[in-house]
Amino acid sequence: PTPIILDCDPGHDDALAILLAAANPAIDLLAITTVAGNQTLARTTLNARRICSAAGITDVPIAEGRAEPLSGNASAVGAEIGGVEVHGESGLDGPRFGEPTVELSTVDAITLTREILLSHEEPVTLVPTGPLTNIAVLLRDHPEVKPHIARIVLMGGAAGLGNATPAAEFNIYCDPEAAELVFTSGLPITMCGLDITHLALATQEVCDRIAAIGSPLAELCVELLTFFASTYKAIWGFPAPPLHDPVAVARLIDPAVVTTVPAAVAIELTGEHTRGATVVDFHGVTGRPVNAEVATTLDVPSFWDLIVSAIAELS
Ligand code: BDR
Ligand code: CA
Repeated sequence: PTPIILDCDPGHDDALAILLAAANPAIDLLAITTVAGNQTLARTTLNARRICSAAGITDVPIAEGRAEPLSGNASAVGAEIGGVEVHGESGLDGPRFGEPTVELSTVDAITLTREILLSHEEPVTLVPTGPLTNIAVLLRDHPEVKPHIARIVLMGGAAGLGNATPAAEFNIYCDPEAAELVFTSGLPITMCGLDITHLALATQEVCDRIAAIGSPLAELCVELLTFFASTYKAIWGFPAPPLHDPVAVARLIDPAVVTTVPAAVAIELTGEHTRGATVVDFHGVTGRPVNAEVATTLDVPSFWDLIVSAIAELS
């Protein structure tokens, strides 16, 4: 299995990414780290503990990361700029969660990630599904970890339109300086952006398949997807909610489910209307060196098979 650390901001789709990573035998989930994004850090961390407790994921350490983007501008945290509308006040609205039984690690996310990277017998893949703050701080303050990172497979960005703004995707928009640091790090990057995650729509048919599993966890997932459906319909008029974050995990499980093309990706930092945009040069017109594999296709039925199997496996 591929050893990974999942860095997330749960978040409905982050929660499903945790389930997929924990359940699928092709993945060895070494740790879950949290970052502010869809909600404040305290809430995304609580939510990671909630979903792990509900799913019986008791053997994966959970560590808390950064509460603010690199710019230090707390009002740029995702909870303030739309996360709350999409994911609700708790960041994981919909189901009623019990008190989490899974504890929080005593070390912070950056320390834990560094320790795991330096001690694991093989290079580890980082899977960020929230703003890139934790990963940027890690690379900036502990560059010795770089040879121990196999690849960064992230959910974020878009080659086409954004969602936080017309130009920028939410995770990148929350902390563009962090994204810039990561995309210029020289590490291998796979970018799973809105271009394909908007194809991962949790339709009624998908919800029916999950409900048919007939377990408390399956019921909880349906409640999550039902809330997520209501906000995506209200805000964007989507017929069903896109399950962005598990797409990055799916890429690692089966590369055929998510295909990519190499391209140069630049992060817009200063644009008046385009801050946080991922500028993807598919045709090499800028002459900038390729720094990422950019996802361009999603095998939608296979993706949902992975999700349904994961929930069944943990049920
Ligand atoms: C991303 O933003 C968040 O709302 C989701 O969790 C996902 O990571 C999609 O733009
Ligand atoms: Ca997320």
